[in-house]
Amino acid sequence: MKVLDLFNVKDYGVIVTGGASGIGLAFVESLAENGAKVTILDFNAERVEREVARLQALGQQVRGSVVDLTDRPAVHRAFDVAVQTHGRLDVVFANAGIDPGIGIIGPNGERTIEGALENYDDERWNRVIDINLNAVFTTIKAAARHMKPQRSGRIIITTSVASVRNSALAAAYPAAKAGAAHLMRNAALELARYNILVNAISPGPFVTNIGEGHTRDPQVQAQVAKIIPLHRMGNTQEMKGLALFLASPASSFMTGAEIFNDGGLSIGPPID
Ligand code: NAI
Repeated sequence: MKVLDLFNVKDYGVIVTGGASGIGLAFVESLAENGAKVTILDFNAERVEREVARLQALGQQVRGSVVDLTDRPAVHRAFDVAVQTHGRLDVVFANAGIDPGIGIIGPNGERTIEGALENYDDERWNRVIDINLNAVFTTIKAAARHMKPQRSGRIIITTSVASVRNSALAAAYPAAKAGAAHLMRNAALELARYNILVNAISPGPFVTNIGEGHTRDPQVQAQVAKIIPLHRMGNTQEMKGLALFLASPASSFMTGAEIFNDGGLSIGPPID
């Protein structure tokens, strides 16, 4: 067998949560370009419709399901329909996530009042935990339900450098991401005997639509670049190779790993 054959995902059944934008969309493209059958689960109906139409026009096997991941019964129903449509479930990306809003340090480096712990909005806290942690649990649960009987599968969680390194981000975000990373490791242990491999991709700052698209602002990009050893933000195209690696037989002995794709952010500030 040639090494490139290890990356073959042709006709795999795949589900990507939050797949209509940003990092999730790169996961969808990576797998669909390589012949997989992909379902996007995302609550942004307009984006789902647009991206599914665009990828189908390229001849790719992509479909969409408009679902809010905090609606647990709806997630399970969407999984059932996707598995029925694709005929199998090989890979699930638990990727959807939201930004926590303003933290203790504001956009211009000043301390903020509303980001302080005693003022941080309770509803915002609950929403961040609901999407960035609870929905990961729901997604793993739905995946395990389908993968255990077939005794195979891959589950890939999108965490963040915030899972291991604290910052000025509002506390709900690192709390949820650290929880998701630990849940990943627990699921990897529990599901290993069923040949279900569970890993995480941990991004540093990438240019996407997160937080109303603030990462597209050149001033924000210049600020962020200063703290990254590679001195720039990531482009979502740079997620595609890692996604294919973790979804394919190329990573068949890897489970419980959190892989940082972060320009070096997790190891420390630049030394120039
Ligand atoms: P994005 O905003 O471009 O894409 C996220 C997608 O998730 C959107 O299409 C949105 O509609 C969907 N989504 C959000 N909440 C949902 C819900 N309740 N139900 C269904 N769909 C929902 O954001 P991005 O940056 O691509 O984020 C993807 C993941 O990467 C998130 O988990 C995020 O926390 C993580 N991440 C992103 C970083 C970045 O710098 N962009 C850095 C570290 C982690």
